[in-house]
Amino acid sequence: MRVRGSTIVVTGCAGFIGSHLTDALLALGNRVTGVDDLSAGRREFLENAEGYPEFRFVRADLLSDDLRPVLKGADAVMHLAANPDVRSGASDTLAHYRQNIEATYRVLEAMRATGVKGILFPSTSTVYGEPSVIPTPEDYGPLVPISVYGATKLACEALVCSYAHSFDMEAVIFRFANVVGARSTHNVLHDFAAKLRADPSRLEILGAAPGTTKSYVHVEDCVRGMVIGAEYARSRVEIFNLGSNDRLSVKEIADMVTEEMGLRGVRYEWTGGVQGGRGWIGDVKDMLLSSDKLRSYGWEPAMNSSQAIRKAVREVIGGGAV
Ligand SMILES: NC(=O)c1ccc[n+]([C@@H]2O[C@H](COP(=O)([O-])OP(=O)(O)OC[C@H]3O[C@@H](n4cnc5c(N)ncnc54)[C@H](O)[C@@H]3O)[C@@H](O)[C@H]2O)c1
Repeated sequence: MRVRGSTIVVTGCAGFIGSHLTDALLALGNRVTGVDDLSAGRREFLENAEGYPEFRFVRADLLSDDLRPVLKGADAVMHLAANPDVRSGASDTLAHYRQNIEATYRVLEAMRATGVKGILFPSTSTVYGEPSVIPTPEDYGPLVPISVYGATKLACEALVCSYAHSFDMEAVIFRFANVVGARSTHNVLHDFAAKLRADPSRLEILGAAPGTTKSYVHVEDCVRGMVIGAEYARSRVEIFNLGSNDRLSVKEIADMVTEEMGLRGVRYEWTGGVQGGRGWIGDVKDMLLSSDKLRSYGWEPAMNSSQAIRKAVREVIGGGAV
């Protein structure tokens, strides 16, 4: 997939990862049309992008607006718009079905109608469910997601693969670990920081001590990896894991957040969680991806999980919207 001098549509361009990707694509000399309904995204995240004459913002809802005029003439679509909240999937299943599966179907149909040949799709480690092989490689199977979110993203992957094969498209799929950094708006760091601002003496933590252990990747490493993976993709459908090479427990994250906020003696109050200590229904207990495939193309995360979290905490505590 060409990511220099191309015409690219980024859906979810005003979101956390989408806005960073948009900035990177513009810096590489692409023409970018960013699409977002601003349901979760923020226009201020596009401040840098809007300084480029090659950037155009279209406020549109993928679920209801005609996407063909937006996609016409594009070389590729990078489809980041989604409902990315694993936790809400257990209570609002329909939103996940619609915003993930139905929106992706509508994007693919609009691509088919307008002859757009490239799609980049950000998927997630949650498609693996609770794999018996850790670090988990891309060819691990069977894929048995335990969250509705993971299930909808896996369904999207399947749709993307089928359109690539059926309609002569080229697809690059990334399965991300947890992505953190500036412009994020909802994750464990925001949750902890908000609770500690309200009461610096105690911290309620979902789950049972020491919590789940997962891998975290900083958005700067994530976007760099997406560009490298897209550039080097060779097959009609290329799947890359993208995560750092280590993992952290929730307790270690709580320690980092309290330390970065300059707090001492904070009392951790574990809720006990659900289903044997998970933070919420569908919360995977242990996640670490093997990103060897992407690394074989020259990508190396500059930050491990701890470094990514520490940088992200400073970005989030400092406002996050930079
Ligand atoms: N953040 C992570 O840790 C993570 C991990 C794995 C995969 N992903 C995937 O990466 C992508 C981006 O995630 P994010 O964390 O940046 O999320 P985000 O919520 O910050 O961004 C999603 C954007 O999509 C927009 N959007 C949602 N529904 C829309 C619709 N119907 N029409 C138009 N715009 C719509 C929102 O306004 C938002 O700006 C998602 O596909 C997510 O599933 C994220």
